[in-house]
Amino acid sequence: MAKGRVLSGMQASGMAHLGNYHGALKNWVRLQDEYECFFFVADWHALTTLFQEPGRIRKHCREIATDFLACGLDPEKCTIFMQSDVLEHAELSVLLGMITPVPWLERVPTYKDKQREMEGHDLSSIGFLGYPVLQAADIAIYRADFVPVGEDQLPHLELTREIVRRFNHIYGADALVEPKELLTEAKVLPGLDGRKMSKSYNNAVYLADDDETVRKKFMSAVTDPQRQRRNDPGRPEVCNIFAYHKLYTKPERLAEIDRDCRSAAIGCVDCKKELIQTFFTLFAVIRDKRRELEAKPEHVRQVLDEGAIRARSVAQETMETVREVMQMGWKP
Ligand code: TRP
Ligand code: SF4
Repeated sequence: MAKGRVLSGMQASGMAHLGNYHGALKNWVRLQDEYECFFFVADWHALTTLFQEPGRIRKHCREIATDFLACGLDPEKCTIFMQSDVLEHAELSVLLGMITPVPWLERVPTYKDKQREMEGHDLSSIGFLGYPVLQAADIAIYRADFVPVGEDQLPHLELTREIVRRFNHIYGADALVEPKELLTEAKVLPGLDGRKMSKSYNNAVYLADDDETVRKKFMSAVTDPQRQRRNDPGRPEVCNIFAYHKLYTKPERLAEIDRDCRSAAIGCVDCKKELIQTFFTLFAVIRDKRRELEAKPEHVRQVLDEGAIRARSVAQETMETVREVMQMGWKP
């Protein structure tokens, strides 16, 4: 049946937004039909930056699990779970930490980038430095063949491979598997302000946003900054709203918008309203499902509990091998 095993996770640092949907979730839903898939909510990873706000992480965990199911991840087809429900991730992370040189971690571009991006947060912890080691453990513990990730995650995946290679070299055999990336072709989705859509920039549209919020957000989005008045011609190629039209609007209509924007035949207000309607139509199923699930947190909880049982059985198997080759523990 399966062409191999796939694993991916989403950090519980906020609800899933459209960037997460196009960059990850949409792809995962497709993959669950082709591979043996494991998808999880990375709550320990969220702690690396949000350790001072534990209540927020708990809330996000529940939201993201709801997002997963609303988008169409199906517990009959894939395994959905919480990272912290499978303690073996932590054990493997400790063990991999023993063989990971600190300079490897300091070289990961996201290490310094994130520190810059999240100024005001204290990111001096060993946990934050060790973020990629925990991620390597997440992946290696399922002996995953493939990890669907966006381009921003490639350095983490490369480091995972290096850690696995070192582990296999030191302890012999092929105890762990070197994963390959499954690149998501989706380009980075611009946020409402034109920067990358991000939980930390306050420029995101969330799957959980209600109609009024979605309307307000798109209506206030930055368009072509040179198009000040209704009669000014616009440049779709620099407009954030047009970037969404490219994703959501049919090609024939897209060409008309492109033309009418350049000739100022269409104004930004109407252009935005049209996008909002298209968005509502395209996301109706997901957004309805999400509202339904929100009212049934016990159901979401149950999916995660059952997922954790399945995940744990694979993780425990790997840990037995790992403990054996590292010669941990002894019997008389
Ligand atoms: N670092 C990933 C992100 O920020 C989340 C993540 C944690 C992950 N562990 C993983 C992704 C393992 C893939 C595989 O999105
Ligand atoms: Fe952007 Fe549409 Fe305004 Fe053109 S008309 S600048 S595409 S919002």
